[in-house]
Amino acid sequence: MAKFITTNSKQTQKLAEMLAKEIKSAPLQKRAFVVGLEGDLGSGKTTFTQGFARGLKIKEKILSPTFVILKKFKIHKHKLNVKNGHKYFYHFDCYRLESSKDLTTMGFKEIIKNTENIVLIEWADKIKRALPKDYLKIKFRWLNKNKREIKFEA
Ligand SMILES: Nc1ncnc2c1ncn2[C@@H]1O[C@H](COP(=O)(O)OP(=O)(O)O)[C@@H](O)[C@H]1O
Ligand SMILES: [Mg+2]
Repeated sequence: MAKFITTNSKQTQKLAEMLAKEIKSAPLQKRAFVVGLEGDLGSGKTTFTQGFARGLKIKEKILSPTFVILKKFKIHKHKLNVKNGHKYFYHFDCYRLESSKDLTTMGFKEIIKNTENIVLIEWADKIKRALPKDYLKIKFRWLNKNKREIKFEA
């Protein structure tokens, strides 16, 4: 377990960027690499996701999806000679999810089965039962206006 305190959003993004680079350069696992973010509104989950996407070389803007629950992005390789690697990044925001039944319609099971995917889920605690056992859990806590506690739990 590792605990970090960040004192501005850039730091939170930097931390996420480094994590994404680690995940991207690690060998593929049996299933998708799943990261679950927990924490109240405004605790920094989307800010973290923006840095994470930057670490994956994703050019599109990461927004706090108000009505969209899932967005899919293509991961661009920085080395063209690399054959095996993650291909897609999925950003889920389960804040407005009514029930985990909706996940079935979105093909969640297939998405987290595919070794080529990196899947990050905001409000992961809302869909605990649908998550794989070995996901990386990250807890966010609002400390004050610019200070956040970010805790990694295996
Ligand atoms: N250290 C920090 N880490 C992350 N966000 C911060 C930090 N300090 C201030 N903020 C601000 O807090 C807000 C966090 O919002 P957001 O990332 O959308 O949270 P969430 O997705 O958890 O609801 C943003 O407006 C961001 O600029
Ligand atoms: Mg958010």
